[in-house]
Amino acid sequence: MTQPVTFWLNDQPIETDAPDGLLVLDYLRRQRLLTGTKEGCKEGDCGACSILLGDLNDGRVVYTPVTSCLVPVGELHGRHLVSIEGLNLPSGLNPVQQAMVDRCGSQCGFCTPGFIVSMCWYMLGSPDHKPTLQGFQRAFSGNLCRCTGYASINRASLDLVDRFSEGGDLHHVWTADDRVAALCDAGLLPTYFTSIADHLATIAPLDEEPMDRLEEADFFVAGGTDLYVQKGEHLPRTTVKILNRHPEMKGIDRLDDDGIFRVGALTTFEEFGHHPDIQAIIPRIQDYLFLIASLPLRIRATLSGNIINASPIGDMTALLLAMDSTLVFDNGDRRRPVPMKRFFKGYKIFDKEPDELMTEIHFPIPEPGTKIHFEKVSKRKCLDIATVNSAASLRADEQGVLRHVSLTLGGVAAIPLYLKETSEFLLGQPLTTDVVLDALRIAQGEISPISDVRGSADYKRLLAHQLLCAHFTEHFSHRVSPEALLAS
Ligand SMILES: Cc1cc2nc3c(=O)[nH]c(=O)nc-3n(C[C@H](O)[C@H](O)[C@H](O)COP(=O)(O)OP(=O)(O)OC[C@H]3O[C@@H](n4cnc5c(N)ncnc54)[C@H](O)[C@@H]3O)c2cc1C
Ligand code: FES
Ligand code: FES
Repeated sequence: MTQPVTFWLNDQPIETDAPDGLLVLDYLRRQRLLTGTKEGCKEGDCGACSILLGDLNDGRVVYTPVTSCLVPVGELHGRHLVSIEGLNLPSGLNPVQQAMVDRCGSQCGFCTPGFIVSMCWYMLGSPDHKPTLQGFQRAFSGNLCRCTGYASINRASLDLVDRFSEGGDLHHVWTADDRVAALCDAGLLPTYFTSIADHLATIAPLDEEPMDRLEEADFFVAGGTDLYVQKGEHLPRTTVKILNRHPEMKGIDRLDDDGIFRVGALTTFEEFGHHPDIQAIIPRIQDYLFLIASLPLRIRATLSGNIINASPIGDMTALLLAMDSTLVFDNGDRRRPVPMKRFFKGYKIFDKEPDELMTEIHFPIPEPGTKIHFEKVSKRKCLDIATVNSAASLRADEQGVLRHVSLTLGGVAAIPLYLKETSEFLLGQPLTTDVVLDALRIAQGEISPISDVRGSADYKRLLAHQLLCAHFTEHFSHRVSPEALLAS
């Protein structure tokens, strides 16, 4: 028998037998009549539906901002769901609401609950040591406003930065060991927040779900950021398997004895980019993440979802492909490793059986001196998918001879493309401008871009050329001439 999903909604305990696949947005608005959470795009793009999800961690509740239009109810078990209503004080405005009023941060008001939720998350849950305008902007990077414009919202954020910074009247709150408790003490957050950890601790976990009988599920839901955009209205009427109920499919381990990283397939973009072992091998990973979707999306989007979506322009796909990843599939009876370079067969066609789950992703620990680099061009810098993206894993010895080369391009073929001929040509070659120019010509022969809404085929060829150049100019400008490469 299916167990009810049990959680806290603002200051209320909830036990529901709503379908696992129902969207939290629809649950809030239609079943709880909490209509402060707005339905805008219903595609993760506008942030009008933003909510906070709290998870118990070492006796404290840790909150993350997400878009409720992409999260299934089946994921709420044992968590604290905070809608905009749950951030209201019994009387008066909370500091974020007050700052938005003071600085005229709202006109029609449709986007405002989403902005307030995101800004409240920064106030109560951000890990930043000091509050900054950039921090607030990162927090509301997934919120769009069509009428007020962002200047007044920035001014409201700056007011909050002043109040929470050294010398400000709320500085003690920002620096408190438990910021949520300090906000409640100061009367800035409803006091029910202080008892949520105790409440969540009493919720028994759901019975462990079997990993066999996978063929009985109509859909596997990971972060839901692709699936709900495609099939949001349909999923509540189907049998979904909520993969995030399997924490064993998360986590990042560096296995020095085996020479590999083992990454849980459900690792999210943010978890990947924040892991110290990943930062050690990809020092600019945070910069790359900034080019991908928005914070609430990256908190949800998983590596396996990005790969299995099989979009030719998946960003983490381009990176993991360049890192020579192996995908591990399991159907409950049989475990099957598939080299990622052989996974994609054609447009959205790939080597996976319907009853198989991707459980792990493995890639070799890069040898010292390996440069892993990512480039992306899209119509707008943030919150947009790529026109063309590219990743590289490159290592040259002390004499400048290339000892490891793996180059990928996205958006220039029906599949995320490993540049086999180009990579093989470069291997063992001295790293000079002429050699790279020859390689760039070979790469043009490997790609077959088509014209579409993201750009013409010619434009994509140009981008492919420039992004490949960037890998070499970024890391080997002492060996190649950036001017000659970019002018070619
Ligand atoms: C507003 C917006 C912006 C976006 N921006 C970007 C961007 O900049 N760059 C980018 O690359 N992508 C972007 N995306 C696309 C999306 O976020 C990613 O593709 C994401 O990685 C999908 O992962 P998910 O966990 O949400 O997948 P889901 O939607 O849960 O699943 C996608 C597919 O993979 C299957 N699946 C997932 N995990 C497994 C598994 N472990 N085993 C078997 N099957 C599995 C699901 O069944 C489904 O078919 C954006 C999406 C939105 C809505
Ligand atoms: S309704 Fe637009 S992000 Fe959810
Ligand atoms: S106030 Fe109207 S969309 Fe932002």
